[in-house]
Amino acid sequence: MLKDSINTIETIDKLTVICFSPTHTSRTIAEAVAAGMTAAHIRTVDLTLDRSDEPIILNSGETVVLGAPVYAGRVAPEAVRRLQRIKAAAGAVIPTVVTATYGNRDYEDALVELYDLAVSLGLSPFAAGAFIGEHSYSTQEMPVAEGRPDTLDLADARIFGGECARKLNSSGAFAPFHIKGNRPYKEVKHSGNQTVPEATDGCSLCGECVRVCPTGAVSVDLNARKVLTDPSLCIRCCACVKACPAGLRTYATPFAAFLHEHCSARRDPETFL
Ligand SMILES: Cc1cc2nc3c(=O)[nH]c(=O)nc-3n(C[C@H](O)[C@H](O)[C@H](O)COP(=O)(O)O)c2cc1C
Ligand code: SF4
Ligand code: SF4
Repeated sequence: MLKDSINTIETIDKLTVICFSPTHTSRTIAEAVAAGMTAAHIRTVDLTLDRSDEPIILNSGETVVLGAPVYAGRVAPEAVRRLQRIKAAAGAVIPTVVTATYGNRDYEDALVELYDLAVSLGLSPFAAGAFIGEHSYSTQEMPVAEGRPDTLDLADARIFGGECARKLNSSGAFAPFHIKGNRPYKEVKHSGNQTVPEATDGCSLCGECVRVCPTGAVSVDLNARKVLTDPSLCIRCCACVKACPAGLRTYATPFAAFLHEHCSARRDPETFL
């Protein structure tokens, strides 16, 4: 009986992971979900370092997994901007799984927002998951969800992917389903904090922070022998902090101590199908 039902599951042909993921956790989760969906062809379109405006056209026969980080209980605004390049070809139905990855505090309205974004882009979301990644502000001294997603998270993500594949093969796959979160979404109050990551003494000007910055906020001034960061471009994603090979780039934020104290109890992934 079980064998028969497994045999009737149609393999997904083309599966595309589309993500924005400065510190790689959203991408890792979205790819683990995709792996669990066992498609014939899987590719990743990582928009983190892709600042072009070119539309990303999706055609019939493609299935998508979206991955984006949670910033202040919402989808990271830069992720929204990048994902808005997606366009479903006329008449195409693009089954879509939405995944939001957050730093063990909370995802609040981010998952419903990502679902709504997918719908507005002409995609057909049928499953959603909130997963945990190491907090962007986590440091050795103030760890928050350090090392996540870990093997348990990745196993959960793959199992969820399998459930998504089964749902896609069922009748009524696109029927409305519940996702935790509110509409209208929470308003984000800007703290006015304009601090940005900075390099401490000893910086070799290797340029790795320039390379990984999603918004082009970092530059190396060879004359002044300094790394410069433009506060108007910086989204405080901490990609540069985590990528500095010498561990010299730091972001001084009071949130780190708060998160370490109040948001260290392990949270588990939540999925909606
Ligand atoms: C500006 C900013 C705001 C964030 N807000 C939240 C939040 O509201 N809740 C939470 O749990 N984590 C929050 N985080 C942590 C990220 O969601 C988390 O580290 C995520 O794994 C980062 O994804 P990435 O590795 O794909 O960049 C925030 C991170 C940044 C940089
Ligand atoms: S990655 Fe670190 S060492 Fe390299 S230029 Fe940036 S701050 Fe300096
Ligand atoms: S400079 Fe700002 S935007 Fe660029 S990687 Fe660092 S934290 Fe992210």
